[in-house]
Amino acid sequence: MGLLHKNSPGKVNLLLNILGKRPDGFHELETILQPVNVFDKLRFERGGKGIQLTCNEPALPVDSNNLVYRAADAFLKTQHLDAGIRIHLEKRIPLAAGLGGGSGNAATTLLGLNEIFGSPLTGPALSTLAAALGSDVPFFLQHQPALGTGRGEKIQPLNNFPALQGKSFLLIHPGFGIATPWAYQNLARFPEALNGRPGRAQRLLAALQAGDWRAASGEFYNSLEAPALEKYPVLALYQEFFRAHGALAALMSGSGSTTFAIVESVPAGEALVEKFKTKFGANAWMAVVPV
Ligand code: C5P
Repeated sequence: MGLLHKNSPGKVNLLLNILGKRPDGFHELETILQPVNVFDKLRFERGGKGIQLTCNEPALPVDSNNLVYRAADAFLKTQHLDAGIRIHLEKRIPLAAGLGGGSGNAATTLLGLNEIFGSPLTGPALSTLAAALGSDVPFFLQHQPALGTGRGEKIQPLNNFPALQGKSFLLIHPGFGIATPWAYQNLARFPEALNGRPGRAQRLLAALQAGDWRAASGEFYNSLEAPALEKYPVLALYQEFFRAHGALAALMSGSGSTTFAIVESVPAGEALVEKFKTKFGANAWMAVVPV
């Protein structure tokens, strides 16, 4: 097989509960990850020499600073392959958004190359490679909601949540990004958020699995909002606005800057976007997608 196209989805964190800083500098956490129907596109083609990466987004490097390049390099090295590969990345998911775009691109590259080269790597080997590329990368090797533990790289796939059946996500990226290391470093100033108690994930999971919105609505939580909403208070205003206008939940995803709301339907989400634009302007990146 010479040419392969793959969609690279995004995610939101329905919960991100940080449980303290570890000796290795990473943070222990429990998180509930949910795929969302926004996609970057990747095209893989055998040929040429080495790794040739192109991208429609000029702000992204196309050398070894790009996670797609690093994923391809790691894959080819494990296989001792000196085959050439051309990869084109079409970015549609905003950068530094908390939507896992780059992590998803890395995982999709591992899956794509494994497919092109005859599936030499099994699931566990792919997971090991993925975890070395970034904490969020292993989640994107599969396409289900999942519970993430450790530094986020230990993934337990879950069935779709009954509570989210038929619902939609409204996503708002405010036009500025938040760097993940910044968010984690600044968590140090918020000891309660830094040292969360375990158990929140199980509570939210139980409510989502039971389809119990009364129980679920108080359980959406993201420790990284402490530094992010202090620096960017507009993100708190977005959430208040969505909750006041009928959203079932509103939260920052990952290390931000995207705010997501859970709404009853795509039309309800689109109506809410129109209200949002009237209040906050139309400059943000916005998407409404079915769960
Ligand atoms: O794993 P990843 O490369 O995506 O992490 C980016 C940065 O985010 C890390 O260098 C670290 O500063 C922070 N991080 C963390 N604890 C985690 C995940 C990420 O401190 N569990």
